[in-house]
Amino acid sequence: METKTKFELRLAGRMSRLGTETAFEVLNRARVLEKQGREIIHLEIGEPDFATPSNVVEAAVDALYMGWTHYGPSAGLPDLRKEIAEYIGRTRNVPVSPDEVVVVPGGKPIIFFTVLAFVDEWDEVIYPNPGFPIYESMVNYVGGKAVPIPLREERDFALDVKELASLITDRTKLIILNSPHNPTGGVLTRREIEQVAAAIGDRNIMVLSDEIYSRLIFEGEHFSIMSVPGLKDRTILLDGFSKTYAMTGWRMGYGVMRPDLAAHVTRLMTNSNSCTASFTQVAGIHALSGDQTPVEKMCAEFKTRRDAFVAGLNRIKGFSCRMPKGAFYVFPNITKTGWPSKKLAEALLEQAGVACLSGTAFGAFGEGYLRFSVANSLENLNKALEWIEDWVGKNLL
Ligand SMILES: Cc1ncc(COP(=O)(O)O)c(C=O)c1O
Repeated sequence: METKTKFELRLAGRMSRLGTETAFEVLNRARVLEKQGREIIHLEIGEPDFATPSNVVEAAVDALYMGWTHYGPSAGLPDLRKEIAEYIGRTRNVPVSPDEVVVVPGGKPIIFFTVLAFVDEWDEVIYPNPGFPIYESMVNYVGGKAVPIPLREERDFALDVKELASLITDRTKLIILNSPHNPTGGVLTRREIEQVAAAIGDRNIMVLSDEIYSRLIFEGEHFSIMSVPGLKDRTILLDGFSKTYAMTGWRMGYGVMRPDLAAHVTRLMTNSNSCTASFTQVAGIHALSGDQTPVEKMCAEFKTRRDAFVAGLNRIKGFSCRMPKGAFYVFPNITKTGWPSKKLAEALLEQAGVACLSGTAFGAFGEGYLRFSVANSLENLNKALEWIEDWVGKNLL
């Protein structure tokens, strides 16, 4: 970017290690193309295309009029922490008390705070690759060593527990799990999670369990490592409202962790955000305690779209796609096109008008794949399939 000042930016060295989320860059590029008059189908960004349920919106509006417009406690409103404790206790089958809950603006800050709280220079963090890019970015930022555990298609993108065990060293401070998984849609089974827990054994290693897609599961059931006996006090469970209730722009998520750690994470909140917006939290209570039908409907709709989109991709020459079991992403293998992922994603955006992400936006082990979000109408998904097929017919055969 051009600057008009004579003062050079003397940034801290760590800034050069901070990564980003390509989805936002691709979205910006797609918007530029749209401004030029091009029609683009957006399958790049990871957010539900549904409206936030109306009972939640109404609760927020009422809360604004009722004066929930001031600072609140850094750890979150007591009533919301209680509601979350009950919800997690019920769904993960573990006793959770409100002082084990910290409410934060979105799920992301729990990643940020966990890494800040635990990772010193050269401490090792094992994280899924391909995986949500913020894990690696944050570990690098604080000077830790990001150790990838590859997720492979032939295992349905579940991690290989033997390989995980071989990566654990005396310097391993944190292991990051994410199920249902972004970008592959893979879901870890109860058995796989129990095996991960067994591989960790009695070591003093913390687990950040990113469960932001816990309610978007199409086959099987969600299982948390927090539910494994003996693991609760080493687990930081991340969940939130963004994906479950189509509330990405509201910025509200939470971490569940032992109370002594919750006190430290609360201090990080005091130092960074002070608190999560108060009226948003009041709406959060209604989201968790109110009618859950919108969540079920949204999940059923994602499943219909997933089925249609995966079937469509598998008809396109050079593409082959497994059926993801959760989240709202599909992750086709494109190696038979002969194109590298990034180049193909760029060509699909620029030439075919379909915005998607290169698998490499999620780490080096994403090479050979693309990520499409099915958070778009069936009509647009079908149109995208047509445009891709048309482009492939003209350019790859
Ligand atoms: C795996 C994963 N974790 C965390 C987040 C962050 O969610 P939020 O928008 O609530 O910060 C995302 C968002 O895309 C995600 O995919």
